Amino acid sequence: MIIRKAVTEDWPRIWPFFDQIVAQGRTYAYPLGLTRQTGRSWWMEPSPSHVVVAVDPGPDGDERVLGSAKMGPNRPGRGAHVATASFMVDPGAQGQGVGRALGEYLLTWARAGGYHGIQFNAVVETNTGAVALWRALGFEIIGTVPEAFDHAELGLVGLHVMYHRLS
Ligand SMILES: CC(C)(COP(=O)(O)OP(=O)(O)OC[C@H]1O[C@@H](n2cnc3c(N)ncnc32)[C@H](O)[C@@H]1OP(=O)(O)O)[C@@H](O)C(=O)NCCC(=O)NCCS
Repeated sequence: MIIRKAVTEDWPRIWPFFDQIVAQGRTYAYPLGLTRQTGRSWWMEPSPSHVVVAVDPGPDGDERVLGSAKMGPNRPGRGAHVATASFMVDPGAQGQGVGRALGEYLLTWARAGGYHGIQFNAVVETNTGAVALWRALGFEIIGTVPEAFDHAELGLVGLHVMYHRLS
């Protein structure tokens, strides 16, 4: 697996799992009813955001996109020294280390960019796999906004703000 900068042509291969993950209603509060066209700007953000894909190069160069992450300043101007990020791994490729590799990539990228820390604004508290992964990478839960996420199966659940200080 390699992680590289995403290009425009990657979006049609990200979209199917982006759509599936949003439709599951367990992890992300993107607008409902996005299409491949309208969903694109929610993930393929321009600079200063940095969007990457984790790909399996395949035996004959026939790349498969396993997951994607976007990262950038959490706020503009006087908040731009803190980074944020979002992650999606194709459900068919989850549990194989792709998310951890993307998380480690984020830490390296943010350190290289001189960021002071990384803030995750909205980690669904019932997303225990993600919470465990972020904790393992050094993030802590700063607080939890109660009932801030309308989970498709569980109803109103909390959103964690998680933070990793880098300097
Ligand atoms: C969260 C997500 C990015 C993780 O990616 P992944 O490729 O499935 O995760 P990995 O295979 O790298 O596993 C990472 C670690 O989490 C652990 N883990 C996975 N599920 C877990 C669970 N339910 N409880 C505890 N640990 C868990 C794994 O054991 C692994 O630990 P290790 O690296 O020490 O072996 C991915 O599942 C995903 O895209 N989910 C849907 C969208 C989402 O939740 N995004 C993040 C929002 S904050």
